[in-house]
Amino acid sequence: MATRRIAEILRNAQPQEQVTIKGWVRTARELKEFTFVEVNDGSFLANLQVVLDGSLANYDTLLQEITTGASVEISGVLVESPAKGQRIELKASEVRVYGGADPETYPLQKKRHSFEFLRTIGHLRSRTNTIGAVFRVRNACAAAIHQFFQERGFLWVHTPIITANDCEGAGELFSVTSFNLKNIPLTPQQTVDYTQDFFGKPAYLTVSGQLEAEIMAMAFRDVYTFGPTFRAENSNTSRHLAEFWMIEPEMAFCDLEGNMQLAEEFLKFVFASVLEACPEDMEFFNQRINNTVLETAQNIIHNQFERITYTEAIRLLEKADKKFEYPVNWGLDLQSEHERYLAEDLFKKPVIVTDYPVEIKAFYMRLSDDEKTVRAMDVLAPNIGEIIGGSQREERLEILEKRIQAQGMNPEDLWWYLELRRYGTVPHAGFGLGFERLVQFMTGMSNIRDVIPFPRAPLTIEF
Ligand code: 4AD
Ligand code: MG
Repeated sequence: MATRRIAEILRNAQPQEQVTIKGWVRTARELKEFTFVEVNDGSFLANLQVVLDGSLANYDTLLQEITTGASVEISGVLVESPAKGQRIELKASEVRVYGGADPETYPLQKKRHSFEFLRTIGHLRSRTNTIGAVFRVRNACAAAIHQFFQERGFLWVHTPIITANDCEGAGELFSVTSFNLKNIPLTPQQTVDYTQDFFGKPAYLTVSGQLEAEIMAMAFRDVYTFGPTFRAENSNTSRHLAEFWMIEPEMAFCDLEGNMQLAEEFLKFVFASVLEACPEDMEFFNQRINNTVLETAQNIIHNQFERITYTEAIRLLEKADKKFEYPVNWGLDLQSEHERYLAEDLFKKPVIVTDYPVEIKAFYMRLSDDEKTVRAMDVLAPNIGEIIGGSQREERLEILEKRIQAQGMNPEDLWWYLELRRYGTVPHAGFGLGFERLVQFMTGMSNIRDVIPFPRAPLTIEF
């Protein structure tokens, strides 16, 4: 008999159906004449309850083997459940235990574990309710993102992980070295030179696929990337990772207005899709993690985002009846506390801040006529702060050259980027969404390390 997934059984199956399931035991509760076993296969928040009747052939040995963490295959018939809170349960007729789990040493106990503790057992934490729900929502988010762009005719382009450029110009780069251990006759006296570069040229792990996405947009008009990005940012915060995933749409023949519109439609679409795909998981987050999760989702879907300029933002922050740790002054970058004040306390919804001072933004952003600001936009979200960063790009060759030089970069290194302005240049715009920040925002999880399966952050590299 084909194995069925527990999500599908709990949603659709009817009493009297014969089914086979495969999964891991969450708990086993032994009563006088039978044993209740809760089985989870990762497809659903709830477990399927299985009843092992004392009359089963191998009942006594089974009881020894069926402990929390064991892997099992169970066949039987579905029956109406007399228990509260569940529609059906499985009356087992055949049970196979693939691998046991010693209850003395299995790290996941029935009690609630802290997320800090779960991070120390990254290889097992996906078997818990919360982390399981996070990764299902993460998956639904990714699927919704692709659906959004594909339905609008955007081409998914694969930009390189290893690059020669520092897109953000912030110097937060991991460098790539090209030693080949096979070719190095290592003796105990010899050491490897880890400072060698990539086959004779400097190379880095990408901080953003934007510049390459711009190349592709100049042929396909609307493109997007969805891939890993890296920042050698030694910041131990609940919002930063050294390796995170970014979604970067880039659109030719588009200005800042079109960019803002896309960002807003995009977030609305993704929230609505995930609510539809994972209602139980979202309900769970609302009950157990943060009781504003569902309200926030409705707020995103139904309310227009606020739009203000950086200059207005500074004015609002100066007027705020709140003491900030960092100074507020025209020309200084907004800190996370400022961003959160605007989105959380003042507007209580996402805020798009535009037109930042030229000095604090990257070289590629389009200079405005005032020559003091650039056509930048950051989307600030309640609880998170910056979730999206983007801009209209500088499409004018001479101005771009000057901006590159002003930032102390060498225009020759970006000759190909400049040529895009020499041949068929066009106004264009795009943005980058931090995927983990989105998942955090959606689930209410407080630490970004708990929304990515294998977090890379200072001092956390286990695998
Ligand atoms: O604002 P950022 O640095 O913008 C760019 O990289 C542009 N090239 C994007 C573009 O226009 N195509 O990063 C974009 C987003 C941020 O808003 C934030 O959500 C996320 O990426 N992000 C991080 N997420 C987790 N950990 C980090 N260290 C992050 N740094 C940025
Ligand atoms: Mg940014």
